Amino acid sequence: MKIQKKKNLTSLNTFKVHATADFFAEITSEQELEEALDYASARSIPFEIIGGGSNILFAQDFKGMVIRIRNKGILWDKVKDSDKQKVTASAGEDWHKFVTRCLEKNLYGLENLALIPGTVGGAPIQNIGAYGVEVEEFISSVKVFDVIKKKWISIERKNCGFDYRSSIFKTSDRFIIFSVIFELVRNWEPRLNHKELSAKFFSKKATASVVFDEVCKLRSNKLPDPSVIGNAGSFFKNPIIPMNEFKKLKTKFPDIPFYKTENSSFLKIPAAWLLDYLGWKGKTLEGASVSPKHALIIINSGNASGRNILDLAKKMSSSVLDNFGIMLVPEVRIIGVNSNLLHPT
Ligand code: FAD
Ligand code: EPU
Repeated sequence: MKIQKKKNLTSLNTFKVHATADFFAEITSEQELEEALDYASARSIPFEIIGGGSNILFAQDFKGMVIRIRNKGILWDKVKDSDKQKVTASAGEDWHKFVTRCLEKNLYGLENLALIPGTVGGAPIQNIGAYGVEVEEFISSVKVFDVIKKKWISIERKNCGFDYRSSIFKTSDRFIIFSVIFELVRNWEPRLNHKELSAKFFSKKATASVVFDEVCKLRSNKLPDPSVIGNAGSFFKNPIIPMNEFKKLKTKFPDIPFYKTENSSFLKIPAAWLLDYLGWKGKTLEGASVSPKHALIIINSGNASGRNILDLAKKMSSSVLDNFGIMLVPEVRIIGVNSNLLHPT
């Protein structure tokens, strides 16, 4: 394993912001991961794990070691029990390519999650979700290195703490994901609860591959392609607020949209609507802009630094707090400064 010094990370984050890491390693095996961690620990420097870099923001240079997970390989379980099949995918595999390969093998479930950038290992971190499906539903277990106990363990789905854009992997840095065991289905069942997606099948027959194509089309029309314009998808999570708070807001803002959640005492509000209402769409600050197409997406419109993006995000969240009394929580992992900086005092 090669350790690089003063590594330029610009091409390794989809915001395309310039930052360097004092030390950098790409790992392709369990042994290399342990070696990289030992290297950081021997020097008492912090480490940061990255996959595809599509949900991170380097707010400044990283004074530690960045470890990029690059292990490859997919194991298609031979045992074909009933209508389900297990598949073990290495954390460094590209997520969208993995979804495509599952479909080619007539293994279903992940089609609604097509075209989400990043790696297989990144998917459980925030329990990726789109178009009415969250990945947790298809995860059987996750193989991780526990950096506290310094051993390899397997964590069953029920112990992963999966929630909306959250898991034990997102709330702590203790576990490094090396592979994920999925349980996919052979008999496809459409998942068309999402309004935008179901509208596409008003008069068209749904099959897994047509749903896959429609999801890709919907996403391409709405979300900026990170290979063309730097971004990390939704910058903030959609806030979940108590019903009584919502009722008060509704009297002041009668058009405010909402989604039901599993807990009937709470509702989810689209952060994009709050930001759009406050006129953020298309606004620019020092090379960082709010996408002119979508108010929840911050783009690198002109050589922005991570700090510029963070400053814009801070202004956006302050205005939501001032006007709606709602604290937006970043979905993106902010590296280099305390993300509490986003929360105005
Ligand atoms: P990175 O960005 O590299 O890392 C993200 C976090 O995960 C970091 O904290 C990192 O330390 C940690 N991490 C990554 N890999 C590992 C590992 N192997 N072990 C331990 N920790 C790890 N997300 C959604 O949920 N739904 C969407 O619809 C969606 N759409 C997007 C659209 C665009 C255009 C973009 C740019 C992003 C979008 N995202 C979406 C966010 C992002 O693509 C996902 O969160 C993705 O799963 C991140 O994976 P990654 O490999 O790029 O992780
Ligand atoms: N809206 C506006 N203005 C805008 C954009 C949207 O008012 O500029 C309002 C509309 O009322 C719209 C609602 O916000 O109906 C929701 O917008 P959208 O359907 O685009 O979904 P979202 O809540 O912004 C979420 C996820 C996306 C995921 C899509 C599709 C979060 C934080 N974001 O976006 O995930 O792809 O739904 O399921 O939950 C990501 O996590 O990075 C991401 C892109």
